[in-house]
Amino acid sequence: MKILITGGAGFIGSHLAERLLKDGHSVEIIDNLSTGRLENIETFKDHPKFHYTIGSILNRELLEKLVHGVDQIYHLAAAVGVKYIIENPLLSLKTNIVGTDNVLELANKHKAKVLITSTSEIYGKSEKIPFAEQDDRLLGSTHISRWGYSCSKAIDEFLAQAFFREKRLPVVIVRCFNTVGPRQTGQYGMVLPKFIKAALLDQPLVVIGMGSRPAGSRMSRVGSEPLISR
Ligand SMILES: NC(=O)c1ccc[n+]([C@@H]2O[C@H](COP(=O)([O-])OP(=O)(O)OC[C@H]3O[C@@H](n4cnc5c(N)ncnc54)[C@H](O)[C@@H]3O)[C@@H](O)[C@H]2O)c1
Repeated sequence: MKILITGGAGFIGSHLAERLLKDGHSVEIIDNLSTGRLENIETFKDHPKFHYTIGSILNRELLEKLVHGVDQIYHLAAAVGVKYIIENPLLSLKTNIVGTDNVLELANKHKAKVLITSTSEIYGKSEKIPFAEQDDRLLGSTHISRWGYSCSKAIDEFLAQAFFREKRLPVVIVRCFNTVGPRQTGQYGMVLPKFIKAALLDQPLVVIGMGSRPAGSRMSRVGSEPLISR
């Protein structure tokens, strides 16, 4: 099969590309390297069935060239990381909403099946554990930019479901929780890689806030911006 991965030079995308190549598929990726890195694809970038494009999913013309002729799209490109989202609120919303709309529109036009990656942040502050896909959502104020991530991913889910209902576009929605592993960077606000790096360097593991949370809550706070683990 011919497969396109958006965000393919990122943490999850690069592992996925490697796995799909091992399974014999042709893999195309697009990544703007905002949080991804070329090092992540270094070990397989010369594979004969692999091709990469450095560019943005917001560039619809470029994206259409890549979507043309693919069977499946794994849509992983997104503005991620609490620090990145708080520092780039506008670009984050556009990437996650307009970018996903571009992917879904073009998938529908070129008849490609799509998987989109949503998040546990969909549940917001909900303390109803365990979570279920159809649970209500409990979100904070629109004055706090980190909630834009949760909302943008929720819009992605609405868009995907609307494309399925109205256009019969085959879509799969995955809500990733805190996924960690090699190639993930702590640079943009992901807590576990930050802790692991500090531990390996024999440095203190800095806990922001009191380090304690109400049962079931996944939030802590810095200044006026609550931080989350994603
Ligand atoms: N890792 C987790 O714990 C987690 C949790 C919930 C959801 N997710 C979702 O999974 C997906 C992959 O996340 P990840 O952890 O691998 O993060 P990541 O930052 O490593 O991957 C995202 C990739 O998208 C690229 N990107 C961003 N904007 C782009 C644009 N406009 N055009 C092209 N590429 C762009 C980045 O450069 C990066 O390579 C994301 O959609 C994220 O929201 C991940």
